[in-house]
Amino acid sequence: MCGIVGYVGHSNAQQVIISGLEKLEYRGYDSAGIAVIGKNGMESAKFKGRLSVLDNYLKDHPLEGNIGIGHTRWATHGVPSDENAHPHFNQDKTIAVIHNGIIENYLELKAMLLEKGYQFRSQTDTEVVAHLFDLYYDGDLLKTAFKVESEIRGTYAILAIHQDSPHEFVALRCEAPLVIGYGKGENFVASDIPAVLEYTRDVAFLENGEIAHVTADNVVVYNTKHEVVRKQPFTVEWTLDAATKGGYDHFMLKEIHEQPQGIRDTINTRMDAKGYIKLDDIKLTKEDIAKFDKIYVVACGTAFHAGCVGKYAIEKLARIPVMCDIASEFRYQDPFVDDKTLVIVVSQSGETADTLAALREAKRKGARILSITNVVGSSIARESDDVFYTWAGPEVAVASTKAYTTQLVAFYMIALNLALAKNTINEKHYFELIDQLKQTADILEEMLKDDSREKEVAGLIKDKAALFYLGRGVDMQTAKEMALKLKEISYIYAESFAAGELKHGPIALIENGTPVIAVSTQSAMVEKMVSNIQEVKARGAYVIGIGCEGDSLLASVCDKVIYIPRVDDLLTPLLSVVPGQLIAYHTTCMKGFDVDKPRNLAKSVTVE
Ligand code: M6R
Repeated sequence: MCGIVGYVGHSNAQQVIISGLEKLEYRGYDSAGIAVIGKNGMESAKFKGRLSVLDNYLKDHPLEGNIGIGHTRWATHGVPSDENAHPHFNQDKTIAVIHNGIIENYLELKAMLLEKGYQFRSQTDTEVVAHLFDLYYDGDLLKTAFKVESEIRGTYAILAIHQDSPHEFVALRCEAPLVIGYGKGENFVASDIPAVLEYTRDVAFLENGEIAHVTADNVVVYNTKHEVVRKQPFTVEWTLDAATKGGYDHFMLKEIHEQPQGIRDTINTRMDAKGYIKLDDIKLTKEDIAKFDKIYVVACGTAFHAGCVGKYAIEKLARIPVMCDIASEFRYQDPFVDDKTLVIVVSQSGETADTLAALREAKRKGARILSITNVVGSSIARESDDVFYTWAGPEVAVASTKAYTTQLVAFYMIALNLALAKNTINEKHYFELIDQLKQTADILEEMLKDDSREKEVAGLIKDKAALFYLGRGVDMQTAKEMALKLKEISYIYAESFAAGELKHGPIALIENGTPVIAVSTQSAMVEKMVSNIQEVKARGAYVIGIGCEGDSLLASVCDKVIYIPRVDDLLTPLLSVVPGQLIAYHTTCMKGFDVDKPRNLAKSVTVE
């Protein structure tokens, strides 16, 4: 959500900023803009639409200068338009500001500024920040930033430059991510690491309330008391290649194919010499675990679905009751959370505002927070007591795939560890499951060699208005995740139902030719699933089954079946979701939609 890049140094700022914004496209946006200071003073351009619109314009109207800021906007206040695109300026266009987040008291500030004679060109909340910089500017950009920060409330990552001071910019952070990239004779600030990785691997995250004063030779960070904070940059180990398409047509397809490696990396880094799981960043002791009387899993979207599968694993193996809650609902429900509760927060990005807010509420109530996240140093990781990093590598496509399967692995490993600590699993079963978990990576690699069946299904459903997914038990969670995948990128209405619940209402939706995808991988449920499939078949549904190899009963009632190799029932979600990912991918390609950047969606949702 909103991408930010700021640069000061010896290179052409426009080039650095545009290439940085390209790396942030995955965040989702609807307009893009840039401001550069050079010998002609402040120059800028901003347009509604893709970055390519801005880029094409800049080819004919290049901006010269070695300092600048650029932005991709995901609309909150005001429609996507040229006027509402960032940067926003003060009246005489000497100050430029870009912003990710929401200024909650902008109406109040706007009224005050209007009274002072300021005129507004946009409907955004951000424009008040540009005018505030103007109001307080007295020749010192940093001091002005301190004053502006004391006036604004909300969530923000803000960058500001002033034409009269073309050697510096300031960066303010509260709840929206900002990373500093330390170069040689040049420095960068951006919303995410890939934007700076072409130039430097030495980075540090800004914390809430911090302000960075950035020049070509130095970056000084100040805390809320305006004291200097010593930042310890860390070195990014992964390559930019990991954040590019690497020969695949789309990031989503690449990321689907990266799942076996993600699973391996997530498991293998956590095995000790004796074959036990060793969760380094989780400091929970046996005593801590014995104290927990319940677990809450809190997350959004796909991460929530991973949590719902995690519930099955934890309850089955460790016999601790688990409640799953959507993060945006959790904190308004006065949840049963206290110091005997473990709250597992799941977030690929580690920056999702709803999830972060839920984490803080749980912490306030005394819970122990364990986060599962893919981004080292993200806000959620930093605010948690314990962290499980999924080593999926950067996930760029808006539709989450490899983050999901590695989150499942995280849950299986956590569940196994809790079970061992609580003596609810014997060592034989423990090692058997670890063995099978490891094998899923190779099995998945094999499965991914042939996606012809998923392509066939995509051809069958691409022109349908609606599609239903069914499942029982843990398969119902897989069905939910498959339906989300299809609707978010192909825009086909897709819904999932507990197969046994269908007859209590939803079956009324089934008519001749309605496509139904029935997930049936649980050996104890096959017969019940077959009955539910018969029920929809009798009403004219065209049924595609997803089941385990050798299940001939399923084949006998479905119009088409996609088989996955048989593994322990508990682990099938790791494999069964993949045909669903591929069906969504191929359907979207056939419909000619933008797979990686679906409409209305952002990769990282940093507003509540
Ligand atoms: O970064 P997070 O895991 O916290 O994101 C949560 C959801 O926004 C995310 O999973 C979303 O549902 C995806 N677009 C699903 O593919």
